[in-house]
Amino acid sequence: MTPERAAMALSEHGMKITVVGSGYVGLVAAACFADMGHEIISVDNDASKTAMLQRGDIPIHEQHLPELLARHRDRSIRFSSSLPDAVRGSDAIFIAVGTPQSGDGQADLSYVESVARELARAVNGYKLIVEKSTVPVFTHDWIRKVMLLNGASADSFQVASNPEFLREGTAVTDFLYPDRIVIGVDSPRAGNILREIYAPLTSGAYYSHANPVPAPDNACVPPPLIETSAKSAELIKHASNAFLALKISFVNAVANMCEFVGADVRQVCNGIGADTRIGPRFLNPGIGYGGSCFPKDLMAFRAVARECGYEFRLLDEVININEDQRHRFLRKVRKALWTLRGKRLAVLGLSFKGGTDDVRESPAIAVVEMLLKEGSEIRVYDPAAMDRAREVLLVSGVTYAQSAYDAAAEADALLILTDWAEFAALDLDRLHAALAYPIVIDGRNLYDPDIMAAHGFLYYSVGRPDVQPAMQRVIAAQS
Ligand code: UGA
Repeated sequence: MTPERAAMALSEHGMKITVVGSGYVGLVAAACFADMGHEIISVDNDASKTAMLQRGDIPIHEQHLPELLARHRDRSIRFSSSLPDAVRGSDAIFIAVGTPQSGDGQADLSYVESVARELARAVNGYKLIVEKSTVPVFTHDWIRKVMLLNGASADSFQVASNPEFLREGTAVTDFLYPDRIVIGVDSPRAGNILREIYAPLTSGAYYSHANPVPAPDNACVPPPLIETSAKSAELIKHASNAFLALKISFVNAVANMCEFVGADVRQVCNGIGADTRIGPRFLNPGIGYGGSCFPKDLMAFRAVARECGYEFRLLDEVININEDQRHRFLRKVRKALWTLRGKRLAVLGLSFKGGTDDVRESPAIAVVEMLLKEGSEIRVYDPAAMDRAREVLLVSGVTYAQSAYDAAAEADALLILTDWAEFAALDLDRLHAALAYPIVIDGRNLYDPDIMAAHGFLYYSVGRPDVQPAMQRVIAAQS
């Protein structure tokens, strides 16, 4: 398809969409839908956030988002605080508000409910309401009931589920180049609208127009669209996240086995991942998973199962292994450094993974807190998450560095807690010279132990044999 024909195809499919909520999922969905040729109103009841977005500021660190928002702001994407105004001119309304964890582990759906109430009062003709937030099974039914109870007529709307599988840090490319698009619909009409919304991707038109976001490696173009019932789509989302978390806990347990027997988890994972039924991705051991999704979604999935009368005990063990992993790392630090009180430790990484400034449920933050409790002094560097970390690390004993080398200066050891690409490409001679002692404890397995040994480091990682070159060599390399 020529770029001109592709552009025409995009505009033919153009629909009017409201996205409620401008968090990670909502904002990325709004920007990507606009890039796909739709007309978007992004609504958030936080007036200061809306004003910020209207000014051109972006509240999150996400690759490609600034370009997309700059391209479409005040043209095909507008920011507003008024849900009723937005809804009246829209064909579809995507709900992408937060579904945080409540005290008992269940998802707190009060934001979804209040949006449903407002929607009931605003609908003026047929609208498709689409759940985009991660929600437990049956939520679509509740949205429907709440809307009916609040005066919406049964023929003025339908509710569908369209779970989102984007990852923070690669959210825009994940959205535009998904492995699959899942639409959970209970009527042909709802299915047609969602198919039309995603037609720019499923027809391939988006990828041939003049300026698409560049494709990641192994992109599946055009992506398949999977149509299910709304209930199944809700379950697909929870089950996908639970399975990915399970994969991580499994590989962490295998890494622990490797440590007990002196095997190398890299070799083991190469062997496991070569089986196409298992696959090599998401087999990186470390200090465990974090973020705003896996921890919360596992608890919520377990809570839904329990409510249905099923004890999903496998999930308990996934959660336990994950929790244990950060304590095991602390034991590793102790093993390397003996005592921790008064030790000056350089820490690289605070976000829950590389490529994001998000520190929610970050295992890196949990490890820093444990080290502070043990009396260590921490000098930390993260390329994006230091401002956010300052808001949660309210204890004394932490200072913030300008760079990885600045953090390492005169430190007793360096700890790597987040898998930022720049932490995997440090100048090892410079690092060695900066540290008071050449000790690196790597919670993300970013370095090859042999290379670390060759550079004279004492190097500890996860599921791989420790590297302890003869002390003589370490001392010689230091002098
Ligand atoms: C996750 C899912 O991957 C997305 O598909 C989903 O859409 C999203 O949750 C969501 O529900 O919104 P995200 O939380 O952004 O995405 O991050 P991931 O890349 O999945 O990483 C989660 C955690 O697992 C991170 O702490 C990461 O360091 C850790 N991880 C990941 C490992 O420890 N090992 C691995 O091999 C992979």
